Amino acid sequence: MLLKIAKSSVVLALAAGSMYANAFNEQAEKDREALIKYFESKFEDAEKNKDKFFANSTDEELTKFTKGVKHNDFALGTYAYNSPAKELYDTNKEAFLPYEDNIAKGEEFYNKSLKGCFPDPTVSNEYPKFDEGKKSVVSLAEAINACITAADPKAKKLGSGDKDMQNVQAFFAAKAMEAGKVVDVKITSKEAAEAYERGKKYYYSQRGYLKLSCATCHVQGTGQRVRNEYMSPLLGATTHFPAYRNSSNALFTLEKRMSGCINDEGQKAPKEDSKDMQELLYFMGYMSNGMKIDGPDLRK
Ligand code: HEC
Repeated sequence: MLLKIAKSSVVLALAAGSMYANAFNEQAEKDREALIKYFESKFEDAEKNKDKFFANSTDEELTKFTKGVKHNDFALGTYAYNSPAKELYDTNKEAFLPYEDNIAKGEEFYNKSLKGCFPDPTVSNEYPKFDEGKKSVVSLAEAINACITAADPKAKKLGSGDKDMQNVQAFFAAKAMEAGKVVDVKITSKEAAEAYERGKKYYYSQRGYLKLSCATCHVQGTGQRVRNEYMSPLLGATTHFPAYRNSSNALFTLEKRMSGCINDEGQKAPKEDSKDMQELLYFMGYMSNGMKIDGPDLRK
């Protein structure tokens, strides 16, 4: 089934060529608009679109797909189109939010260690950022670590496995959401546009013995199942992290969630602080531009 998806002819533009003519984000904007169009038309009416997009799905499962899913709705991941799963999600959210304590602990950590570097705690929507001095992409996690090591050069960098990192990201997400922020990743130089293109290339490159790319599953594959799980869209993939996974009873940063996903496919995930990971996050973040921050959130 996966190979069938991989071979499917629906491929989004991996455009090359002269792209820096006027604005540095010109190509990225074209990609983002194309992606919105692709997902909105795919999920306009899944039953009607069976031949075009869902040839491997049963009629029965397509009857349960939400119709007329719009741009901002995709922030919900699979719940944007899978109506039975969405019902369960709504019930769970009404009953109990398991990450409230994480947000409170994150706020304590922020007040103690990060306030000097982030006087405004509502700016996580602007990450990843391109550092024009260093000419490299800086994820939110890296910016947090830069703050910690600036205060104490001997301090250890925090990774996704560290509670302080999970908690403070939960606090930042909650603050940005409260302030009504939307994802706002910027591309303001030729080098930034090149970093974006490398992230995009990673996302669309086939890897491993199954020859899968992220896009195989999260663009062409969205709406189809693998290991009995429906696959979420690239559009809105970064809006709701860190996400609390009920299956693990823990908060997952975006890096950790992605690494898990890549490892599940028998591939080696790039290190959290590697250039590959930063640029991959940069591309994914840009694709979610304009969408509301909606984190932390619940996932299976
Ligand atoms: C073989 C298919 C497959 C491939 C390839 C794949 N994923 Fe996934 N991914 C899944 C499945 C299944 C899930 C769990 C259901 C879902 O999408 O939320 C998932 C979940 C995720 C999530 C969490 C979504 C959420 O809202 O909680 C992210 C982020 C993600 N993948 C990113 C990636 C990236 C980046 C790549 C490429 C480096 C990748 N995935 C490659 C199948 C895949």
